[in-house]
Amino acid sequence: MKYQCGIFDLDGVLVDTAKYHYLGWKKLADRLGFSFTEQQNEALKGISRMAALDLLLKMGDMNEKFSEEEKEELAAEKNQYYLDFVSQLKEEELLPGVTELFERMKQANIKIALGSASKNARLILERLHIKDYFDFIVDGTLVKKAKPDPEVFTLSADRLGIPYEKCVVFEDSAAGIQAAKTAGMTAVGIGTRKNLPMADYICSNVGEFTWQ
Ligand code: BG6
Ligand code: MG
Repeated sequence: MKYQCGIFDLDGVLVDTAKYHYLGWKKLADRLGFSFTEQQNEALKGISRMAALDLLLKMGDMNEKFSEEEKEELAAEKNQYYLDFVSQLKEEELLPGVTELFERMKQANIKIALGSASKNARLILERLHIKDYFDFIVDGTLVKKAKPDPEVFTLSADRLGIPYEKCVVFEDSAAGIQAAKTAGMTAVGIGTRKNLPMADYICSNVGEFTWQ
């Protein structure tokens, strides 16, 4: 077996929360008076909350308009929209094949780690009752450098003592695929080749992935 560890992004890979991040940003854009499409949202996937806000404001031509303090308020506003959406989150919103893949990994003694930019990651894992599967959790409260910096993935590998080339990363964002490749890890893109051209493999969900 080539791989000793799977590192999973959360939003859009394990659970369908990427749509709630999008809807949260869209609600903020609507309030500020500009449009924001799902295609534009691709660039916001995977990056930190404040980096995403900066990009969003640029798209609305509003990046010069707000002070740092006001930006903190806008980010908190989006987070509240997001939390309102996920307060209804149900276990059924786990994406197809997740628990089956985790069970197979446990049996094969392959470590399971989380590599998420989200500060809400632990809350989501707890709500879905999948937190205990993880050997190590890296979330947005732990990393100093956000994706596409590889820190979010190398932290887990370092902590678990696994060489980077023996790690496979599951990601739905271009920034995350870039981070995995920069670390020298295998990158499985969850989505389409068009949106994730740098991925080593493409699956439409983690359930499609086989270790062979
Ligand atoms: C990533 C999402 O997982 O987390 C991004 O793909 C999000 O869309 C980022 O902006 C930060 O999340 P949070 O929950 O800390 O605002
Ligand atoms: Mg994601």
